[in-house]
Amino acid sequence: MLISQLVSLLLLGSISSALANPLRSPQDARGRAQASFMLADETDDLPSSSPEGDKVNVTLYVMSRCPDARLCESVFQDVLKTKGIIDKVNLELGFIASLNHSEPLGVSCKHGQLECLGNAHELCLHAHLPLSTFYATLACMNYQDFPGDIGKVELTRRCAETNKVDWWDSGLGQCIEGKHNGTSTETDMGEGKTRTEKGKGWKKLIAKEGHRRLLSSIKTTQEAGITTSCTIEIASSVVQGGKRVCVVDAGVWKGCDDGHAASDFVRVIEKEWEQLQPKSD
Ligand SMILES: *[C@@H]1O[C@H](CO)[C@@H](O)[C@H](O)[C@H]1NC(C)=O
Ligand SMILES: *[C@@H]1O[C@H](CO)[C@@H](O)[C@H](O)[C@H]1NC(C)=O
Ligand SMILES: *[C@@H]1O[C@H](CO)[C@@H](O)[C@H](O)[C@H]1NC(C)=O
Repeated sequence: MLISQLVSLLLLGSISSALANPLRSPQDARGRAQASFMLADETDDLPSSSPEGDKVNVTLYVMSRCPDARLCESVFQDVLKTKGIIDKVNLELGFIASLNHSEPLGVSCKHGQLECLGNAHELCLHAHLPLSTFYATLACMNYQDFPGDIGKVELTRRCAETNKVDWWDSGLGQCIEGKHNGTSTETDMGEGKTRTEKGKGWKKLIAKEGHRRLLSSIKTTQEAGITTSCTIEIASSVVQGGKRVCVVDAGVWKGCDDGHAASDFVRVIEKEWEQLQPKSD
């Protein structure tokens, strides 16, 4: 059988078993949410040289203005820079926050509204840029006097443009600021402008697409039951429970059975990736 046929059979199998068993476990719920997210995003400029099923799923559960998130994102920068690794992972960001109808964005974030906006910006970067460009832009945002201006459009745009991304052609402008043309800018973060029009206040802060991605990510994280930033989850076909979890909380690494240096994550990813490749027999 062709490898591609095999992969699509496997994908179909996992999707239909998730459908048949909708509430089996948080792990299933998460898989289902990610699968629908990915189907909806098929047209985005994902480098689609190899099917998703061949790659190791890695999720970083973070908050954009959280020092622990910065720490684990910086370790993962070294992981992704390691030769051969970037093509072997499917890296997702999952944002930790809570839905709250009393907030302008409909979301409460631990480090304030600017963090919610930063989360939305990072989701837009992830959705519209190839992984290496996304990550370089994220690193640029984290590099300054942290958390500094994370959540402000000027910083996100400057970091994207530093990495040779065209703000509008890439889809980032649309995702974060909305229409190129709008007379009333959707990024006006001036004082006192956020509480008008109950329930619609977010329109002044973030464009529709960014807002949708933010809510969707928060729901997925809640379904996965993750509450600590930063939690690193590496899907596993080797260890029990189907995932390797490692947490950094208030600067302390916890539960990282395989180690928490970049080289440890590299070793684990290589091992999991080998497992996912078709055996020649
Ligand atoms: C990776 O995640 C996607 C989306 O949830 C899923 O369809 C796929 O089966 C996963 N692949 C592996 C190898 O875990
Ligand atoms: C929801 O938002 C309101 C307004 O900012 C805040 O006072 C309240 O504490 C929030 N509730 C939760 C559960 O975060
Ligand atoms: C704004 O929209 C109009 C009409 O759709 C178009 O002609 C114009 O080029 C747009 N301007 C910008 C800056 O995109």
